[in-house]
Amino acid sequence: MPSTHPCTFTDELLARRRSTRAFTDQTVDRASVEAILQAARQAPSGANLQPGHFHALTGPPLQDLTARLTAAEAEGRAYDQEYSYFPEPMPAALKARQRAAGQALYQALGIGRRDIAARRQAFARNYAFFGAPVGIVVTIDRAMGKGCFMDLGMSLMALFLAAEARGLATTGIGALANHAGVVHTALGLPDDQMVVCGIALGHADPEAPVNSTRTTRLALSDFTTFRGFDAAKGET
Ligand SMILES: Cc1cc2nc3c(=O)[nH]c(=O)nc-3n(C[C@H](O)[C@H](O)[C@H](O)COP(=O)(O)O)c2cc1C
Repeated sequence: MPSTHPCTFTDELLARRRSTRAFTDQTVDRASVEAILQAARQAPSGANLQPGHFHALTGPPLQDLTARLTAAEAEGRAYDQEYSYFPEPMPAALKARQRAAGQALYQALGIGRRDIAARRQAFARNYAFFGAPVGIVVTIDRAMGKGCFMDLGMSLMALFLAAEARGLATTGIGALANHAGVVHTALGLPDDQMVVCGIALGHADPEAPVNSTRTTRLALSDFTTFRGFDAAKGET
């Protein structure tokens, strides 16, 4: 349970949140989705531009998108993402982190390193929003600069935490952008919108092995530099 201390409540939510890739059948009502999206919009943004659009889907519209995406992935349709997520080529140190995250996932699923068919099957679940009752497609005006992607990222984090605070689970789905054309057609998106990612939202299935996936984080000293804090002690 979250503590009532306002300073540690967010820390507890951050520690508790993790990507959830299997959901129960329990639905999420519109009022909860609205509240979560309103929380997402509370994120700050440069010049208060509030970039990004959230397309919340459930029921037949979500089933329709899922069917189209799953078919595109199954037939091996060429990817047509509209922006690049990762550095190309990926430096070795980052590749190692990517591999570790993948291994954590496949280990939880009991899928061996060489079992390509099972890995493909697991990957295809991205396109079914991992069975979540709510799928959110995130788009941004393609004219926006890199800073606006940062703003949108903050909205995503706010959304994840607002869901977590309500006992709901999420995962980001960058893989959705691989089939941007399919998403454009299914949702009738205006041409100026770029598909950024999807979000699965629902109640975590506590029994599903995939939800036991655990990832690690860098040590503080690996991603921070402190200057001046210890000046009084003669350190620089
Ligand atoms: C914007 C975004 C996109 C993501 N895309 C995917 C995805 O396509 N498929 C997937 O299985 N996980 C995806 N993830 C989940 C990450 O793999 C996950 O956040 C990372 O491994 C850390 O694990 P954790 O979220 O459980 O802490 C995404 C996360 C974010 C924030």
